[in-house]
Amino acid sequence: MEVTDVRADIPFLDEVIYLDAASTTPTPQPVVDAMCEYYQHFNSNTGRGAYRTAVKATSEMEKAREKIAKLINCDAQEIIFTKNTTEAVNLVANGLKFNKGQSVVVPNIEHHSNFVPWLNLHNRGVKTKIIKSGSDGVLDVSDIEDVIDKNTKLITITHVSNSIGSIQPVEEIGELTRENNILYMVDAAQSVGHMSIDVNKINADFIAFPGHKGLLGPVGTGFLYCKKEIADALSPVNLGGGTVSDVTEDHFKLADVPARFEGGTQNISGIIGLGAAVDYINRIGMGKIEKHGRKLTKIMYDGISEIENSIVYGHPEHIYDMVGFNINGVNCHDVAKILDEQKTICVRSGMHCAIPAIRQIGAFEFGGTVRASIHYYNTEEEIKTLIDTLDEISRFLGN
Ligand SMILES: Cc1ncc(COP(=O)(O)O)c(C=O)c1O
Repeated sequence: MEVTDVRADIPFLDEVIYLDAASTTPTPQPVVDAMCEYYQHFNSNTGRGAYRTAVKATSEMEKAREKIAKLINCDAQEIIFTKNTTEAVNLVANGLKFNKGQSVVVPNIEHHSNFVPWLNLHNRGVKTKIIKSGSDGVLDVSDIEDVIDKNTKLITITHVSNSIGSIQPVEEIGELTRENNILYMVDAAQSVGHMSIDVNKINADFIAFPGHKGLLGPVGTGFLYCKKEIADALSPVNLGGGTVSDVTEDHFKLADVPARFEGGTQNISGIIGLGAAVDYINRIGMGKIEKHGRKLTKIMYDGISEIENSIVYGHPEHIYDMVGFNINGVNCHDVAKILDEQKTICVRSGMHCAIPAIRQIGAFEFGGTVRASIHYYNTEEEIKTLIDTLDEISRFLGN
């Protein structure tokens, strides 16, 4: 599928220049159709009824699980549905057992969703060891090596930073955790659907994913990859219907994985839509998505860098599908508002739910950064409009 084909499936893109893929992506028509089909023709609960529409709903939801598993190269039983990335991270942070004094290693460039759940473990006597990224937002594996010891239970890291777009050496860190027998978690919120992901290459025990960002799936969807060998180390945190195989008046037996982690009625239409979104991404082809993303990122990075008064964060060789920047002398929210008012350009501004990261890159005093983030549906022309409009903002208001 070409960019024009994808744009034809997303009418919203005729109304705005949408450069906020890192927050959430617009939903293509075939994904909306798959959800409507559920509501119109087999709107029943899953895993419960014996009647035909209930069986169909269950089978469609499980087909979505299989498609996702194939995309990231794992078994379907290793996919646990969640409502977003945040819930997937919390499932691990709250479901693992820690001994007093054990620690978790967390970089300071994380999104709050992969930071606060770990800080919160202080309540359970768990320490957090914070490692700093370089000024380009990239971690040095030797810094991680320096802080790990026999009490390190888990290392967690974001594959691609949401504030600066820096891509981390997740495979190398995977080797380090294996060698040292440390659990390994990756937050793939900004990488899935933007680049190929093979869980075996990353070799993480847990990977948190959104459905609603790079995969072009509906909001309210996400999932956790949980390596099957490690699933018994994780306690379910949302027990109830669907999570047990037997219950007496004083005992219950957990259901198999992943059902034990999916308490209550799921976001059935959303999950079916996510399955359709995976089909859609496959129809475009991940290779094409990556190539297009790299090309537009370079144009955007170079173009914004050339604007007088611009400050661009991150190194062009280490960023992926987004550029974080400021215009000296103009508040980042003002830049975002002007872009919208002048050219209906949608970008995110502020702290990006990553306050320690914004401090680390030196953008705190600007109130954060402006972030333009892209996906396959964006065009070179849109990026040029962004650059031209920023240039005008800089000439009138920058200093
Ligand atoms: C790196 C990263 N992690 C986690 C999240 C939280 O994602 P969600 O909104 O799916 O919970 C985001 C959202 O932008 C993110 O960029």
